[in-house]
Amino acid sequence: MFHGKIPEELLAYKNLNIIDISVNNLAGSIPEGIGNLSMLQLLLLSSNRLSGEIPKSISNISNLRRFEANQNNFVGEVPVGITTYIEILDLSHNDLSGVIPSDLLSQSSLQYVDWSNNLLRGTIPERISSSSSLARMRLGSNSLSGSIPAKFATLQYLFYLELENNNFSGSIPPELVELGNLTKPQVMKLQQNKLGGQIPTEIRQLQSLGILNISWNNLTGPIPSSISNLKKLTNVNLQSNNLVGSMPVTLGDLNLLLELNLGGNKLSGSIPRMPPNLQIALNLSSNLFQGPIPDTPSQLTSLEVLDLSNNRFSGEVPDSLLGLVSLTQLILSNNQLSGVLPQFSKHVVVNVSGNPHLIIINEAPSPKTSPESEKMKASVTLWTVVGVEAFICCFIFLCLFFHFLFRDKSRGTREEAIS
Ligand SMILES: *[C@@H]1O[C@H](CO)[C@@H](O)[C@H](O)[C@H]1NC(C)=O
Ligand SMILES: *[C@@H]1O[C@H](CO)[C@@H](O)[C@H](O)[C@H]1NC(C)=O
Repeated sequence: MFHGKIPEELLAYKNLNIIDISVNNLAGSIPEGIGNLSMLQLLLLSSNRLSGEIPKSISNISNLRRFEANQNNFVGEVPVGITTYIEILDLSHNDLSGVIPSDLLSQSSLQYVDWSNNLLRGTIPERISSSSSLARMRLGSNSLSGSIPAKFATLQYLFYLELENNNFSGSIPPELVELGNLTKPQVMKLQQNKLGGQIPTEIRQLQSLGILNISWNNLTGPIPSSISNLKKLTNVNLQSNNLVGSMPVTLGDLNLLLELNLGGNKLSGSIPRMPPNLQIALNLSSNLFQGPIPDTPSQLTSLEVLDLSNNRFSGEVPDSLLGLVSLTQLILSNNQLSGVLPQFSKHVVVNVSGNPHLIIINEAPSPKTSPESEKMKASVTLWTVVGVEAFICCFIFLCLFFHFLFRDKSRGTREEAIS
């Protein structure tokens, strides 16, 4: 819980090689003289309330391997040359603006760069060193634009690429997914941009890919069947694009796939066998699928969410869907389904709205637990009580009535006798 400024006195310790003051309440700026701590290898300032600009002098520290200043309030441009010596650079979650320094990718030591969640604009610099050891690159949630440089393909160690939530346009360069045998890209997050064109068939080269997210772009054309070569895929999200055609029949070969989201496209045709271990979700919502819901999803015993809404599925909801034993959410709304909806377990939230011909039979209330019958029982008891009381009242009233009647009569007779 240290607060206040970074003390200038710190700069007198010329042999310091580690400064870790992360996760405190420090404010103010980084002292300009920090560049004179030439032995510094680690400078960790993350999660404070530091502000001002990143001093240019930091790029002079030739021993500095790791500089983390994420989650602060730094402003201004990232100084050119900052990546000259650094291997790990995290400046994410600040208010840095301006363009990316042109030498970002031309330095050979940089391995990990995270500048996500800032206000950076402009394009990704094209100057990329062939001896680059860049392995992880995160530039998501900025205002970057232009196309994804085809030269990324020369980043032979890149295995993690996040460019989501920017304004990137153009198509996905085939070179990007045509990387040599040395490369092992595992994560590609390109969602929420303006990427167009088709998904390159060369994507089959990305043998190590686990997560592919290109959702919320303007992709067109079909889903390449070569995608089923990517046997390590666990999450595929292509939702909200303009993809057309049918789902590749070979999709079912993706044995590790846990999540398949193809919602919000223009896909049609029949639904092939699905990857057997889908678990997180299968989303085919808002496409052009029609005809009966196939039995194919029913083998998916681990599947938790199935969304088939906003299509033109017709016919009955197959009983085989009851075999989805892990299901928690079933969304079939806005289709043309008919017949009687099978009774799903009470653990499944079922949405079937917008199917005017579908018949939903509610479970018969069991006499012991249903609140209706409790109410009925209560009212029966109430009426019994009221009835008995009314009867007693009437009885008392009649007794009194006859009592006074006979008393008056006998009095009258007596009076008559007296007179
Ligand atoms: C893909 O991107 C969407 C939109 O940003 C996000 O909601 C989803 O969680 C992402 N999925 C994966 C697996 O990255
Ligand atoms: C399925 O995808 C559609 C279209 O992108 C989306 O609106 C919907 O929320 C998704 N369903 C679930 C359960 O996330």
